[in-house]
Amino acid sequence: MKLNKKLNQLGTETAFAVSAEAKSWSEKGHKVFPFHLGDINIMTPENIREATIKYLNDKKNGYCDSKGVPELRDVLSHDVGSKRGVRYNIDNVVIQPGGKPTIWKFLATTMNEGDEVLYPNPGYPIYESQIRYQGGIPIPYSYDETETGFAIDIEKLRSSITNRTTAFIYNNYQNPLSASSSIDEMEALAELAIENDLWVLSDDAYYEIRYNDESPLSIVNIPGMKERTIILYTFSKRFAMTGWRIGASIGPKKIIEQIARFNVNDESCTNHFIQHALAETLEDSSPYSEKILSELKDRRDLCIASLNSIEGINVPKPDSTFYLFPNITSVMESKDCNDLDAFRIKALKATGVSFCTRNHFGKPKNNETDQYIRLAYSGINNSDIKEGLALLKAWIEE
Ligand SMILES: Cc1ncc(COP(=O)(O)O)c(C=O)c1O
Repeated sequence: MKLNKKLNQLGTETAFAVSAEAKSWSEKGHKVFPFHLGDINIMTPENIREATIKYLNDKKNGYCDSKGVPELRDVLSHDVGSKRGVRYNIDNVVIQPGGKPTIWKFLATTMNEGDEVLYPNPGYPIYESQIRYQGGIPIPYSYDETETGFAIDIEKLRSSITNRTTAFIYNNYQNPLSASSSIDEMEALAELAIENDLWVLSDDAYYEIRYNDESPLSIVNIPGMKERTIILYTFSKRFAMTGWRIGASIGPKKIIEQIARFNVNDESCTNHFIQHALAETLEDSSPYSEKILSELKDRRDLCIASLNSIEGINVPKPDSTFYLFPNITSVMESKDCNDLDAFRIKALKATGVSFCTRNHFGKPKNNETDQYIRLAYSGINNSDIKEGLALLKAWIEE
């Protein structure tokens, strides 16, 4: 019996393989310091948990509207719109089981076979996987390392646009780079999208994971962008709800209606009781998400101080996400190692510190020579950060 040929085009999140390796190393009796996965070891706020139990006990256990319960769509449209300086209403929101489903549903709605789609590399690997699987042509765009972080190479991006380009995937507050656009960068991107009449997927998974007081920038706020942009929204990171599977697609009504048809064909609807709980608690949940942010900020500061004390590492302090992407080119030279994956395994076995590398976020370009690893600090406590990074330092400097 044959399998579908298209499966050859379907990628995966190789970070999960790193988790499996770390687990197996720990099962052999070694202590593992988990910096590999963007999961969160902080509990979901108690007001959300309590409201969820209440609605579950209140018989909110059946199917609900495929688009999501109106109360949540309504409250979310105001929350997302007001935080981005635009107006949305209930017709602009369709609830999803997580943030990820918006990626394939956006592509299935806006892309035809043979269309070219721009996506970030390094970037979240599901973009490329879904573009390929659905018969599109993935066109990567890259970032330049700067003194303060990473910036999109706008001129290269411009030169890769053709008359077959139909969509642009943009992940401001980016995984894995923690890159955040300046207003100039964002305006240049918006100009390119408008000039070339592109659909835009704004992956806002980390929009709420920001550590400075400045108001966030959103591409939908730039004139001409709201009508061509679909926001990938998720509760996963903001309220430590990764396993609850709840998010939304937010954008122009005509796209939202098409995405809702995929909901009917796919999951039917998203858990009813969770939606009611979020509708009830969202407006009063800021103190809870601020607590989560403050814990993450402490971890970030500790990681930065520990990493920057290691000879050969100089990583800037990002203002968003919970990832660090240090350049370890000179560290690898000092360890006489030129294979990133071999370096990762050696580090795991010598120190127990488990992390992903640049290679887990897309295929490196031919002319790419610098080497990077990605550390996530969302799933590890301060005492383990301290212990693990001290062991890593000792191993690197030995
Ligand atoms: C950039 C980015 N987009 C989307 C997602 C998916 O979010 P969710 O877990 O809510 O589906 C993730 C998850 O890590 C992510 O890093």
